[in-house]
Amino acid sequence: MQPTIFHSSAWQALEKHQRSTAQWQMRDLFSTDPERFNRFSIEAACILLDFSKNRINRETIALLSDLALAAGLPLEMEKMRQGVPINVSENRAVLHVALREQGDYPYQVNGEPILPGIRKVLRQMRRFVDHVLTGAWTGFTDKKITDVVNIGIGGSDLGPRMAVEALQPYANTGVKCHFLSNIDPEHIHQVLAGLNPETTLFIVVSKSFSTLETQLNAVAARKWLVDALGDESAVAKHFVGVTTNKAAATAFGIQVDNLFEMWDWVGGRYSVWSAVGLILAFAIGMDEFEAFLAGGASMDQHFFSAPIDQNMPIIMALIGIWYNTFYKAHTHAVMPYVQGLQRLPAHLQQLDMESNGKRAGKQGEPILFDTGPVIWGDVGVNVQHAFFQLLHQGTRLVPCDFIATVNPHFEVNAHQANLLANCLAQSEALMKGKTTSEAQREMLKAGLSEQQIEALLPHKVFPGNQPSNTLLLRKLDPKTLGALLALYEHKVFVQGVIWGINSFDQWGVEYGKQLALDILPLLSSEKEKTNAHDPSTMGLIQYFHQHRHS
Ligand code: F6P
Repeated sequence: MQPTIFHSSAWQALEKHQRSTAQWQMRDLFSTDPERFNRFSIEAACILLDFSKNRINRETIALLSDLALAAGLPLEMEKMRQGVPINVSENRAVLHVALREQGDYPYQVNGEPILPGIRKVLRQMRRFVDHVLTGAWTGFTDKKITDVVNIGIGGSDLGPRMAVEALQPYANTGVKCHFLSNIDPEHIHQVLAGLNPETTLFIVVSKSFSTLETQLNAVAARKWLVDALGDESAVAKHFVGVTTNKAAATAFGIQVDNLFEMWDWVGGRYSVWSAVGLILAFAIGMDEFEAFLAGGASMDQHFFSAPIDQNMPIIMALIGIWYNTFYKAHTHAVMPYVQGLQRLPAHLQQLDMESNGKRAGKQGEPILFDTGPVIWGDVGVNVQHAFFQLLHQGTRLVPCDFIATVNPHFEVNAHQANLLANCLAQSEALMKGKTTSEAQREMLKAGLSEQQIEALLPHKVFPGNQPSNTLLLRKLDPKTLGALLALYEHKVFVQGVIWGINSFDQWGVEYGKQLALDILPLLSSEKEKTNAHDPSTMGLIQYFHQHRHS
């Protein structure tokens, strides 16, 4: 089925529909349909999705739904739940949804039920977090742990880091959380500065326990600890691990009892729901961590039960495909007007781009159209004073997601109303634009001469018709954050299904890692000679040696 989606009648119908509707102006769609907001909005899991500011009508949604059906979406959703190895290139099931299951859905992998193992790790997390927080677990010198450092990268960093930051108002356990991911020496220097080895706990988070960056940082942190405490056995009280690779973690010095299991059916970028989220549990406590899981589960329930045209993740996926594939938009911007979600775009970059940045279909066949877009964005209102000019008057089509909350955690004067006013104003301005006559009228009213108006007019007109979704969250609490993350996970999955790609491998990341290992000896010693690299790379290596320590 997948290789032929490009040739399917559903695909062709959408191409035709796009050609015949390309001139539509959204402001006209609104003026001819007073019900447009009601028609094109969905509420689920305390999140409202308004997708009315898009270049769509009912027929567009119907045709996109046909495409989803032609791609076999319902069957693929069911395969995911049934533990079928839909990650075909690695022959793995994809069951991050099981990590947040609230009931007893019989999730299985190779005929084995997996909920008991998941619940066992959750209990282990609760016990451990409680022990550390109450002081039942102490460091090597019997001091209470005050700081927890997450050592990991990619999915072992971005999700937990974003969530810890987003849920700061719930971080009342007294433990301070830190993240060490990069191997720029500056990063470890910054993170360890000010930490007391006697009261610091390191969580080495690495699904594979072989990621070079994490290994280098874990080894450096262990040396820092052992040098300070003067005893190798201190490692047992200050290092715990989250991994599928027990052997490597114990060889590093982490005791078996201090390991939290992970499973190969959880992708790194989908793993914050597992013990990879241990640092989040330290920040907000285990009860709130479980509320976060419950939030994810409520979005799952919606995803697996709502009809396509009322299904929030599916609708977001279909609209994304409409622009990305049929309008050939190259990027998709995400702008949270919520300070706590500042790191959401970075998490979504990995989630979306590592999942759907693919050019081969599931069976290896070449893909004949554009797949995953470039995901980018930052926090509002700051973005308005950074890159919004291009969205308003640049030449490119840039679909956007705006994310805002109704209730802030802190009431400061009229800040929240101002924040939301700005968010809504941006999506309205992007949709409506400003016509020539509107711009003229405005300048006339401001008392400008005809000559001035004529000169300024081209600069004062806004084309508008820039599409956006708005997600309004009741409040950024653990449950709603869980629902929001699950929403984006399912959106990415649905898009992958429709494009016929495997969203759950990441072979492309490996090549750079391999070359780095080849280059390393050339940087470590000037005597190493090889012609195996291109002249540019060799020139840069030479420059490095010439100026090292200069
Ligand atoms: O960036 C590649 C990648 O494999 C990601 O998919 C993953 O999240 C990250 O590296 C870290 O991997 P690990 O948890 O195995 O250290």
